Amino acid sequence: MEDDILQHLEEFARSNYIPVMLDGGTEFLAKFVKEKQFQNILEVGTAIGYSGSIMLLSSKKAHLDTIEIDEKSFLMAKETFQKMHLTERVNQFLGDGFYVIQELKNQNKKYDLIFLDGPKGQYLRYYPILLQMLSPGGCLLVDNVLFHGLVRSTVDVGHKKRAMVNKLRQFVNEIETREDLITTIHEVGDGVAEIYVK
Ligand SMILES: C[S@@+](CC[C@H](N)C(=O)[O-])C[C@H]1O[C@@H](n2cnc3c(N)ncnc32)[C@H](O)[C@@H]1O
Repeated sequence: MEDDILQHLEEFARSNYIPVMLDGGTEFLAKFVKEKQFQNILEVGTAIGYSGSIMLLSSKKAHLDTIEIDEKSFLMAKETFQKMHLTERVNQFLGDGFYVIQELKNQNKKYDLIFLDGPKGQYLRYYPILLQMLSPGGCLLVDNVLFHGLVRSTVDVGHKKRAMVNKLRQFVNEIETREDLITTIHEVGDGVAEIYVK
């Protein structure tokens, strides 16, 4: 039944151009969360609650704080979590992730997993704050870091995506070269970065 709802959600997202995680990425996410059994998870970019549900189903004791800027998506995610009987384990925030994470940080909230899947061009702004919100040994997981293979390619990117791809290139370069971080880039889905503070 949960699988049916997830499949329906994925189909709905694809046919309505809602950018949920790509196939290989969701399998990776489910396996990763299942192995590590995270308890406190923060997600930036709820969309319709697809990846959020996957994480909660993969770690049965986990609690999820998840942030979405778009009200329509926020409401659809609410329905998703209700259908999946996950409401009690979710706090949904409607607002701009950049401000909500600072509020959560000011409340001294800590997470053992933070999943960053919000505005791609702003990862550079978000990640230093998110690193400070990890519990000791916690993981920052970031989706779309290879963005359709464009981040590591030298081809010229069309002007519409150029600024975002350049920012993602800068972000990947930073997380791979900072000596205080341990970063692995997984070539699954659209590219997932797994980051720990040493
Ligand atoms: C790639 S989708 C998230 C997909 C979702 N994590 C999944 O796989 O099911 C990115 C989401 O981030 C949201 N978003 C964009 N800018 C945001 C911001 N500044 N703050 C919070 N959410 C934002 C978008 O509305 C969109 O729903």
